[in-house]
Amino acid sequence: MEKQKIEAAAPVEELSNEIQELLLNLPTEKNWDGTSLYQYQGCWNRSQYVFATISFQRHFQAKESDIILTSFPKSGTTWLKALAFTIVNRSRYPLENSPLITTPPHQLVPFLEVDLYLKNQSPNLEDFPNPRILATHVPYASLPNSILNSDCHIVYVARNPLDQFISHWKFLSGFQDQNMNLVSVVEAFEMICNGVQSYGPIWEHILGYWKASQEQPEKVLFLKYEDMKEDIKLNVKNLANFLGCPFTEDEERQGVVEEISKLCSFDNLKTLEVNKNGKHRTGFRNDTFFRKGTVGDWRNYLTPSMAERMEKVLEEKLSGSGLSFKKES
Ligand code: A3P
Repeated sequence: MEKQKIEAAAPVEELSNEIQELLLNLPTEKNWDGTSLYQYQGCWNRSQYVFATISFQRHFQAKESDIILTSFPKSGTTWLKALAFTIVNRSRYPLENSPLITTPPHQLVPFLEVDLYLKNQSPNLEDFPNPRILATHVPYASLPNSILNSDCHIVYVARNPLDQFISHWKFLSGFQDQNMNLVSVVEAFEMICNGVQSYGPIWEHILGYWKASQEQPEKVLFLKYEDMKEDIKLNVKNLANFLGCPFTEDEERQGVVEEISKLCSFDNLKTLEVNKNGKHRTGFRNDTFFRKGTVGDWRNYLTPSMAERMEKVLEEKLSGSGLSFKKES
């Protein structure tokens, strides 16, 4: 199998003077791979993503028609990208000729700070077809004002933190022995229980979008990976309604909801040649975004007492929010 490399955290000297100065004054911790994480606006991140987030915050101009897909990494972003793109563009592309068959979801729906603003402080996003569908892992409170103040739509997908952790851990393990040396799963788990991980603390991230979805349900839709696994058709319909393109009775009769669910399913996407081969612009192999796609895989890696510990942390952090996660299928 082809070896893959990802970008190492950018040395502080390579960033602009202003950002360098900012980074030097931010709290810092070591990441799972020994590189530095910086806490910017309450969220831990690698230096280059702090830099890209700031460019995103300063330069992004939202349009009312924009659809912003948001998530904590390894929570089902790829799935959400496939679904949103297909639902919104279903009258433009017949499902049997969907661009999803020939183009990976992350190329159809690019990341803002992890891709576009990482490469260019002010990328030209005007040529994207309307509605623009774009993605970010930035916490709700750190989204650019132009997103927060416009009528664009935000969809967030959340996943139970135990499966999210294992998914991220396995994802990064693929880089072991190359340009990355990871701490043990036990040490990494200890770090996440203290809130230290890329884009963490995870509970802050989830709560930010959860509260926004409660306060502005017409602007922010909150989805859960586990609910989508349980009933994808219901979630596809909800997503279409929220995005202002509900399925017609005719479409429902013709089975369009089922077809979209199948097209975007893990089993289908994983086996497409385009997702089995090649790399994303950020250097990640396309196949690394499709691993198991199940609920409860954490059981294969974490002890019951580790799970209990995270449960306790979540109980405390999410208390009073009305939010909880299924951790078994
Ligand atoms: P696992 O590592 O548990 O298998 P993200 O897309 O946010 O990077 O999240 C990746 C996780 O979503 C991985 O989880 C991946 O297998 C899973 N995934 C990718 N596509 C999926 C799909 N169509 N349906 C369900 N899960 C999917």
